[in-house]
Amino acid sequence: MAAAYKLDKVFLTQEEIERRADEIGKEISRDYAGKEVTLIGILTGSVMWMAQVMKSIEVDTSIDFLSVSSYGAGTKSSGVVKIYKDLNRSATGKHVIIVEDIVDSGVTLDYLLNYLSGQNPASIKVCSMLDKPTGRRMKLEADYVGFEVPGVFLVGYGLDVDQRFRNLPYIASVAVE
Ligand code: IMP
Ligand code: MG
Repeated sequence: MAAAYKLDKVFLTQEEIERRADEIGKEISRDYAGKEVTLIGILTGSVMWMAQVMKSIEVDTSIDFLSVSSYGAGTKSSGVVKIYKDLNRSATGKHVIIVEDIVDSGVTLDYLLNYLSGQNPASIKVCSMLDKPTGRRMKLEADYVGFEVPGVFLVGYGLDVDQRFRNLPYIASVAVE
């Protein structure tokens, strides 16, 4: 039988997440002053965070999306990265910011950095809503991090478990029943 998931504790409120998104958007505006940035949202988990951060970016901004998956059903990584949807326009010559929901093992990000570097962008940085350093298997860090979180499985604000809970406007831990 499929596992039943229940919300456990609220980890980050909507207000906390959105205040931090605003700070990061402003930081990006300062770092890229006079330049144009291309945000590449990694579907599906990054959508809410990306929408929130980009509202506070004041430099010229274009957006694109990549869909990858390193996870099957459940809460354990399969370690295998697949591209489901490629960019609409190449990253060549652009100031790219990869926008992620969470960096856990770093396997997905390592793959994405290699993949996008191959298109010779002008620069490449990473903005992740959450960072779970205890799960790391690759030696890499995001440049803009919303929050560092402990090694528990989190849902909401775009994050899912088996496609559920992405719509929650806050982040919570889940319990398996
Ligand atoms: P990594 O390749 O292990 O760094 O995993 C990255 C991806 O795994 C993220 O983009 C998420 O989609 C997913 N992921 C990792 N931890 C969590 C979590 O706590 N909740 C929901 N998704 C997670
Ligand atoms: Mg993801």
